[in-house]
Amino acid sequence: MKVLGILGSPRVGGNSDILLEQALAGAKNAGAEVEKIVLSKKKISGCLDCGKCNETGICVIKDDMLEIHQRILDADAIIHSVPVYFWAMTSQMKAYLDRWCAFFDAEWQWHKAYRPKMKGKRIGLITLCGDPNVSTADPIVHSFKSTCQFSGLKLFGVVQASASTKGEVSKNEEIKKKAYDMGRKSVTG
Ligand SMILES: Cc1cc2nc3c(=O)[nH]c(=O)nc-3n(C[C@H](O)[C@H](O)[C@H](O)COP(=O)(O)O)c2cc1C
Repeated sequence: MKVLGILGSPRVGGNSDILLEQALAGAKNAGAEVEKIVLSKKKISGCLDCGKCNETGICVIKDDMLEIHQRILDADAIIHSVPVYFWAMTSQMKAYLDRWCAFFDAEWQWHKAYRPKMKGKRIGLITLCGDPNVSTADPIVHSFKSTCQFSGLKLFGVVQASASTKGEVSKNEEIKKKAYDMGRKSVTG
């Protein structure tokens, strides 16, 4: 069982990172092999909508996303953690998500070769926002929820937290426990 953590904040050691680490600790505790990718340390360009991947299943942009595509395919569960930037996900997370395009054919069905690995894959999401009202991050939840619904991925857990300064969320034991439990759930179901 492999659980992949995707950090969409460029602030390493920040709030999204702290909660992602909690989730990965939960997954590890439940017996999973875990790995974390920090998107801001990778070179990931935006999707060009060139359509080539519709035929080949391989993106024409030769950057770090090609390796991440493999990690996605190999993972049993993927937990994303991302803060709100201007009422939306960060540019790093958006570029990553748009590049999932390569997994689909021209009819937005999983490429046949990928379908067995992608269908039903478990997806988790952690959102952070400076606003005390955690629903400020709902547009990000909507984006992931819709993506999962339309493609047959399984959104198994969402944790939404509020924090502003770097590391502030570490004081919130309740939300750290929620993230940890979500990580366990990524393995135990
Ligand atoms: C460029 C930028 C835009 C932001 N926009 C919002 C916003 O629209 N709403 C909000 O509640 N917080 C906003 N924030 C605050 C972050 O979501 C908040 O500080 C969060 O804890 C950062 O998480 P991190 O430590 O994982 O980077 C913004 C922060 C930055 C740097």
